[in-house]
Amino acid sequence: MNTKTTRITEDQIDEQLRYCGRIQALWMERGITPKAYVETYGCQQNEADSEQLRGMLSEAGYAIADEAEGADVVIMNTCAIREHAEQRVFGNLGALTHTKRRHPEQKIFLCGCMAGQPQVVEKLRKSYPHVDGVFSTHHLWQFPSILWQVLTTKKRVFSTVDEPGSIAEGLPLVRSNTLKSWVSIMYGCNNFCTYCIVPYVRGRERSRMPEDVLAECRELIANGCKEITLLGQNVNSYGKDLGLDIDFSDLLEQIAQLPGDFLIRFMTSHPRDAGQKLFDTMAKYPKIAKQLHLPFQSGSSRVLKAMNRHYDREKYLSLVNYAKSVMPDLVLTSDVIVGFPGETNEEFEETLSLIEQVRYDALFTFIFSPRSGTPAASMEDPTPKAEKNARFDRLCSLQNTISEEIHAAYIGKTMRVLVDGVDGDHLTSRTEGGRLVRFSGPECLIGTYTNVKITGATTWSLSGTLSE
Ligand code: SAH
Ligand code: SF4
Ligand code: F3S
Repeated sequence: MNTKTTRITEDQIDEQLRYCGRIQALWMERGITPKAYVETYGCQQNEADSEQLRGMLSEAGYAIADEAEGADVVIMNTCAIREHAEQRVFGNLGALTHTKRRHPEQKIFLCGCMAGQPQVVEKLRKSYPHVDGVFSTHHLWQFPSILWQVLTTKKRVFSTVDEPGSIAEGLPLVRSNTLKSWVSIMYGCNNFCTYCIVPYVRGRERSRMPEDVLAECRELIANGCKEITLLGQNVNSYGKDLGLDIDFSDLLEQIAQLPGDFLIRFMTSHPRDAGQKLFDTMAKYPKIAKQLHLPFQSGSSRVLKAMNRHYDREKYLSLVNYAKSVMPDLVLTSDVIVGFPGETNEEFEETLSLIEQVRYDALFTFIFSPRSGTPAASMEDPTPKAEKNARFDRLCSLQNTISEEIHAAYIGKTMRVLVDGVDGDHLTSRTEGGRLVRFSGPECLIGTYTNVKITGATTWSLSGTLSE
C-alpha cells in the first residue's frame, strides 16, 4: 500500500478545470444542458466528497438532478464499512441497467470506499459492464479527466491504482446545505483498528494546511453558515503529519476565534488521541458546541486490545469523566460494535455496564461485519448469529431507555436552537448539543437561532414551543 501524500498542485487543478470547460463545450455544441445525479452512501466524509463531485459536474455544465432516471451522468459514491452497505450499493447499481436502457447515453460511475478494494473493482469489471468508470478516493480530484475520457473514447475507465493519498485544494464545490456545512480537515486513517476497512480504502492520514481550513471557514461564515462540522476519521491526530507545531485543539481554537455567530462541531474523535487539552479548549470557547462523538466500540479491555484501539476501559472512562467535569452540559454520543470475534457474554456485559455508567445521549450501534483483508475477518468467531442479534437487541433497548430518560429531563427547559428546516407542519431545529427539536413557528425563522421551551420528548427527539 502506498503510504505517501501528494499535494495536488494548482497547475494540476487548473488542468482538471480545463477538462470541465471542454466537457461543457461538448454539450453546448449539441444545445443540451446535461443532468447529473450523485448518490451518496456512508459517512459525512463521503457527503463532503460528493459536494466536490457536484462542484466539478456543475463546472462542466451539468445541472444537478435528484434522481438517476434520465440523468446523463450517475455517480454512486460508495461505502465499504459493512457488508450490508456494499450489498445495498450492488443492488442499486444493478437497478441502473434499467435507467440506462431507457437513456442509453447515461454514463455510470462508481467511486468512494468500495472502489478502493481490488476484489470489488474486479467484480465491477467482470459482472457490471454497464458501469463506465470506477475511481477510488485518491482519484476523486481527477474526475473531470475521467469523465472526459469516458465521453470521448466510449471506453470504460478504471482509475483505481494505489496512488499516494492526495490533498487537493481549490476544487469547485456545490454545498448541499449552506446553513450547516462540512469542512474536511484531514483525510485517511493510520489506526488500523482490526475490524476496519477505512485505512485500506482511504490511505494514510494527511492534514490540510491550517490556513486553507481557516480560509474555508471564513468564507462559509461570510456566506451565512451557522454551523461548521470539521471532518476527519480521527480529528485528534490533525497536524501530526504537518510538522508545523499545530494540533487539533490549536486549530479548533483558531476557528473559534473567528468573528461571527456560529457553532463548531467535529467528528470523529478517537479516545486514544483525545485528551484534556481538547476538552479544556471546548470548555473555553462558547462557539465550540458542547457535543462530543467519542466511539468506545467495546466496554471490555480485552476486546479493545483485540480491536487495536490503544486504550482500555479505565482510560476511556477517565477521559469521559474529565470531559464531563469541565463541560457539565456535554452531549455525548458514541459508536459500539456488538459481536466482535471472540466476544464472550461477560465481555458483552461489560459493554452494557459501560453504557450504564456513561449514559450516552445517543449511540450508533453495529453488529460486527467481517471485512475482507482486515485482521478481524480471519479471527475465530464462534458466537452464533442469533446470539449476536440477541445481544444487539439488549444493547439497543438499554440505550433507548437511557436516551428516553435523558430527553425527558429536558422538559421544562428553554433551549437556544438553530432552526434548520420544515418537517410537515413543524419547524425542525437543533440544540447546541445537536438534539433535534420540533416546534410550530413561522418559516422565516429558518436560518436563525431562537429559544424554544421543551414540552415533550421521545427516544429520538424533543418537541417544544417558541419562547420569546
Ligand atoms: N473513524 C471513526 C469511525 C469510522 S466508521 C472512528 O474511529 O470512530 C464508523 C463506525 O462503524 C465505527 O466507529 C465502528 O463502530 C463501525 N464499524 C467499522 N467497521 C466495522 C465493521 N467491520 N463491522 C461493524 N461495525 C464497524
Ligand atoms: Fe476505522 Fe479505527 Fe480508523 Fe476509525 S480509527 S476509521 S474505526 S481504523
Ligand atoms: Fe464508509 Fe468510507 Fe465513510 S467506508 S463510513 S464511506 S470512510
